[in-house]
Amino acid sequence: MTTNPMDSAVPGFETLAIHAGQEPDPLTGAVVPPIYQTSTYKQDGVGGTRGGYEYSRTANPTRTALETCLAALENGARAFAFASGMAAEDCLIRTLCRPGDRVLLPSDAYGGTFRLFDKVMTAWGVKYEPVRQTDLDAVAKAAAAQRPKLIWAESPTNPLLSIVDIRALAALAHDHGALLVVDNTFASPYLQRPLELGADVVVHSTTKYLGGHSDVVGGAVVIKDPRYARDLAFQQNATGAVAGPFDAWLTLRGIKTLAARMDRHCANAARVARALQDHSAVTSVLYPGLPDHPGHDIAKSQMRDFGGMVSLRLAAGEEKAVEVCARTTLFTLGESLGGVESLIEHPARMTHASAAGSPLEVPPDLVRLSVGIEDPMDLIADLTQALG
Ligand SMILES: Cc1ncc(COP(=O)(O)O)c(C=O)c1O
Repeated sequence: MTTNPMDSAVPGFETLAIHAGQEPDPLTGAVVPPIYQTSTYKQDGVGGTRGGYEYSRTANPTRTALETCLAALENGARAFAFASGMAAEDCLIRTLCRPGDRVLLPSDAYGGTFRLFDKVMTAWGVKYEPVRQTDLDAVAKAAAAQRPKLIWAESPTNPLLSIVDIRALAALAHDHGALLVVDNTFASPYLQRPLELGADVVVHSTTKYLGGHSDVVGGAVVIKDPRYARDLAFQQNATGAVAGPFDAWLTLRGIKTLAARMDRHCANAARVARALQDHSAVTSVLYPGLPDHPGHDIAKSQMRDFGGMVSLRLAAGEEKAVEVCARTTLFTLGESLGGVESLIEHPARMTHASAAGSPLEVPPDLVRLSVGIEDPMDLIADLTQALG
């Protein structure tokens, strides 16, 4: 996945993160792209736009900088930046699908994605079918029966940290005439680049690792085939849930340190996962970096490292899980993930409450950790005291 350091024509990931779409401002030389906090642009005569900018829902230079950088990081043809990850998903689905189309979803999809399909897309006429995507035979059977327009995947999944074989899933999707969409939020493009593994589209909640500082909500769609760019740009402009200039700027600022942050997230998560494995209150630790994780080898083959998310299941069940979430002091109890500070949450009652009673319901004894970049010894001490 890393580019050849001897090939100076292809900048490395860290270089792209800092420079792609972010050339010094031609007017002033400002090294950081300006925040173009403007809704409209002077035209030099009717239709005489400067660089094509006419109205900031359609395009804004700060957003263009972010979109250029995201496309480079995912090695895609184009990227589109949105007001949230859900806005990105909504725009993508309504661009690629029409009422009557079907989508295969992971059986442990992010709760918000499930809710979007279950409550919004179903009403629009797009049907979904949850499938355990770690079982490729089951996916093939469902694809043959459903003839889906899209196969939607996450890897690692939220919150169970399952790993799906993106190469195999892409081949399977294409055999059945479907496109493979990968939600790459948990890995980030630093750890995994689904388009290079055969996927057609990547979606992100840039709120998470890309932004990285828990100070901005945003989303992105990145496409491999430029054929879809026109329709996506049309839909993005027509429905309008775009990233604002300041949000785009904050996300770009976060992206500059993505590689350095991810290295530390991964190192800390690995140490936390190993420490939790030895704790008597914990029945299982879900972390793809552990050699006994069922997806470990696939993760190794498609990711640079194993990420900063760790989930654990508790021997004493739901009440204990809720209690542990309330007892940590360094891990902050809250939704979201991917920021520099560590977070803890109870998916069944929080992020995944919308999946209650559905095939995507998550175990009640599950606790999810977003392991930050603090001193790992402090993180382990906090979890140890909270587990009692
Ligand atoms: C995997 C995943 N995808 C999509 C989203 C939705 O993103 P947002 O909250 O930015 O709308 C989230 C949010 O938690 C997520 O975890």
